[in-house]
Amino acid sequence: MRLLGAFIPALLLGVLAQARQVEVTLDDTSPQIVYTVPPLRGCQSDACNPANLYNGTSSTASALVIVPFTGTAAAIHLGVNGTIMFQLDGIYVGEYSGLDVDDITTAFTMNNLSNQLHVLTMNAFETKNWDVVAPMQIDYIVYTTNRTTNHTPAIVGGVVGGVAFFALLFLAMALFRRWKQKQRRATRGSWVGRWSDKPNIQMAGMNATANVGAST
Ligand SMILES: *[C@@H]1O[C@H](CO)[C@@H](O)[C@H](O)[C@H]1NC(C)=O
Ligand SMILES: *[C@@H]1O[C@H](CO)[C@@H](O)[C@H](O)[C@H]1NC(C)=O
Ligand SMILES: *[C@@H]1O[C@H](CO)[C@@H](O)[C@H](O)[C@H]1NC(C)=O
Repeated sequence: MRLLGAFIPALLLGVLAQARQVEVTLDDTSPQIVYTVPPLRGCQSDACNPANLYNGTSSTASALVIVPFTGTAAAIHLGVNGTIMFQLDGIYVGEYSGLDVDDITTAFTMNNLSNQLHVLTMNAFETKNWDVVAPMQIDYIVYTTNRTTNHTPAIVGGVVGGVAFFALLFLAMALFRRWKQKQRRATRGSWVGRWSDKPNIQMAGMNATANVGAST
C-alpha cells in the first residue's frame, strides 16, 4: 500500500508535465518556413552582426513567406526597411514598419490563438511606395504549442499501463504472501516433530553408552 501511495503522485506528476506548454523556436533556415522565392542567406551588410542572430544566420526574403504552425502564440523576429503585412489563416492581423533591414527586433506577436494548425503569411513593401517589394530579414520565429491534446493517447496509455502494472504487482505480492504463510506453517510443523524426537534419541544414546560402560 505504501508503494502505491508513492507511485500514484509520480504518475500524476508525469501527466502534468505532459500537459505543459512548449515553446518551439524556428531558425530562419528551418524547413517549416516556406520561402516562395529562395532567400539570400546571411547578413546583407556589415551593420548586421551574426553574433547577434539566433544560430548565427538570417534569411533575406523578397517575396511571400508562409509559416504553418500548431500553437496558441507566436513571435516573429526580423528586420525590414518598409512595411510588412501579417495574415493569419488568410485574415489580416496586423503590420510592422521598420526603417532598417538590419535592425532585427520582435516585429510582431500573436496571443490567445486556438491550439490548432494556423498558417501565417507575410510580405513587405516600401512604406512610401506600396508597389515596390521590400526585403525582410528573418532571424527566427517562436511559437507556443500546447502538448496536452497531442499526447492524450500517450497519457491515457501510460495511466492504464501503470494501473495494470500495479494491479499485477499487488496480485503477485498477495500470492507470494499467501505462499510464504503456507510455507511457514509447513516448516513449523516439521520442526515441532524434530524437536520432540531429539530428546528421545539423545536419551537412547546416553542409555546405550551407560549400558556399555556398565558391562565392561
Ligand atoms: C542552426 O543552423 C543550422 C544550419 O544553418 C541548422 O542545420 C540547425 O538546425 C540550426 N539549429 C537550430 C537549433 O535551429
Ligand atoms: C530605406 O528605404 C528607403 C526607400 O524606401 C531608402 O531611401 C532608405 O535609404 C532606406 N534606408 C535604409 C537604412 O536602408
Ligand atoms: C488573452 O486572454 C486573456 C483572458 O482570456 C486576457 O486577459 C488577455 O488580455 C488576452 N491577451 C491578449 C494579448 O489578447
